[in-house]
Amino acid sequence: MDIKSTAGDISQMDCDAVVVNLFEGVEIPSGATGNVDASLGGIISELIQEGEINGKEGSITLLHTFGKIPPKRVLVLGLGEKERFDLDVVRKITADSCRYLRGKGIKRIGSILHGAGIGGLRAVDSAQAMTEGALLGLYSFNQYKKKDEAEENLIDEFIFVEKDGRKISTIDEGIATGVILSDATMLARELVNQPSNVMTPSFLAKHAEAVASESGLDVSVLDRDQCEELQMGAFLGIAQGSNEPPKFIVLRYTGDSENPSNNLGLIGKGITFDTGGISLKSAAGMGEMKSDMAGGASVIAAMKAIAKFKPKINVMAIVAATENMPSGTAIKPADILRAMNGTTIEIDNTDAEGRVTLADALCYAREQGIHRIVDIATLTGAIITALGKVRLGVFGNDQPLIDRVLAAGDESGEKMWQLPMDKEYKEQNQSNVADLKNTGGAGAGSITAAHFIGEFAKDISWVHLDIAGMAMTDRERGLHVKGATGIPVRSLVKLALNLASHPSP
Ligand code: BES
Ligand code: ZN
Ligand code: ZN
Repeated sequence: MDIKSTAGDISQMDCDAVVVNLFEGVEIPSGATGNVDASLGGIISELIQEGEINGKEGSITLLHTFGKIPPKRVLVLGLGEKERFDLDVVRKITADSCRYLRGKGIKRIGSILHGAGIGGLRAVDSAQAMTEGALLGLYSFNQYKKKDEAEENLIDEFIFVEKDGRKISTIDEGIATGVILSDATMLARELVNQPSNVMTPSFLAKHAEAVASESGLDVSVLDRDQCEELQMGAFLGIAQGSNEPPKFIVLRYTGDSENPSNNLGLIGKGITFDTGGISLKSAAGMGEMKSDMAGGASVIAAMKAIAKFKPKINVMAIVAATENMPSGTAIKPADILRAMNGTTIEIDNTDAEGRVTLADALCYAREQGIHRIVDIATLTGAIITALGKVRLGVFGNDQPLIDRVLAAGDESGEKMWQLPMDKEYKEQNQSNVADLKNTGGAGAGSITAAHFIGEFAKDISWVHLDIAGMAMTDRERGLHVKGATGIPVRSLVKLALNLASHPSP
């Protein structure tokens, strides 16, 4: 789909459908919606009077124009209550209305910018949000299906129509930003949606290399021997049960070569399939564990966008990729592993593997001189108990950095919630035989998991995002379609841009 802008009158657009909008409670539409209403002889106002059109958020009324104006159809889209209106509403209703029009077989859509008039949004932001809504809401993963209707029913063009020609350049800027962020999010979705017989550690590494060569990033992929040399006993311990060779993937973007210490490390959990290992998971729903590399996918995808925006900061992405399999060579409960920094880990449960692989990734980042780390992991089922599938969990050891992450989440509309990290929780990770145990026992499972990772961040500024509840969705909602969500790619990119343009006080 091509997204572009044009200056002109929406009622004169040669399109299969044009989209206008309305806030809830408005009785006489104004602006572009008012003009379209007038050229249709007042039928929108009449339908409002009759209660047929009410402006409720996401409500859709499709009118046929029967030759009264060039566009064949007019879609009146509800913006909801003015007080609750924001960019997230724009993303959501754009996604919903685009899916609706795709279902009608529409190829060419014209739309006014939602909220850029009386809604009070900047045209650049509205254009970006609409671009994200359209691209991400229309995404589908159909690589393994015969060509079906979904593929034939593609929208070709989505054109933002603005009467004031002076606003076109800012609208185009918003479109360009939205396209970069959506492309990166869709890359993460593509990687996560792949089945694990395709998405092996080697396949993920190949993708990272492809992203690097397209985007001009440095890449290194360490194999088992190289990881052994670095004494990554934690990561390799998890990998030892699998026939698939582990890959330790490192991508580097250099945006501030004069200040190597102006840096950010993005570390993504990269378990390409989590069976639980010897502490085997139960069969029901195990297929979802193909998404256990969603954190890894999100950092690779974020790097692609960061390379395009070129912020003045150095960013390193790390993914310690492996399967977690039960086998004759797999680690067993009560085994003890030694991480790269010498810390010993008692394996209490082989299904708590993510934190063990992340331990070595954090050690590596520290050795590379990274000063700020954000890790992203489908880490615990407990975070789903705590926050459901609405917000991802945020943890960390540095409130200012946590606040920057939360702010990036707010700007992106990727919902987050900070959880406490009281030191008392840490006691649950104590082992009788090693420095640490890889489970915290009953209660606060997401917090004890976070503390485990925190042991390896030590004094470095560190934030941990537990995305176990958010990586996949089984319902179509706003920007999200069934399958991988691509969360939190847009927030990670925003964070890198914000840290570059406004370094911490
Ligand atoms: N990959 C899982 C966490 C997960 C659960 C991700 C649901 C996505 C959806 C993780 O490796 C895991 O199995 N965690 C265990 C830890 C426990 C054994 C301490 C869990 O949460 O049950
Ligand atoms: Zn697990
Ligand atoms: Zn896992």
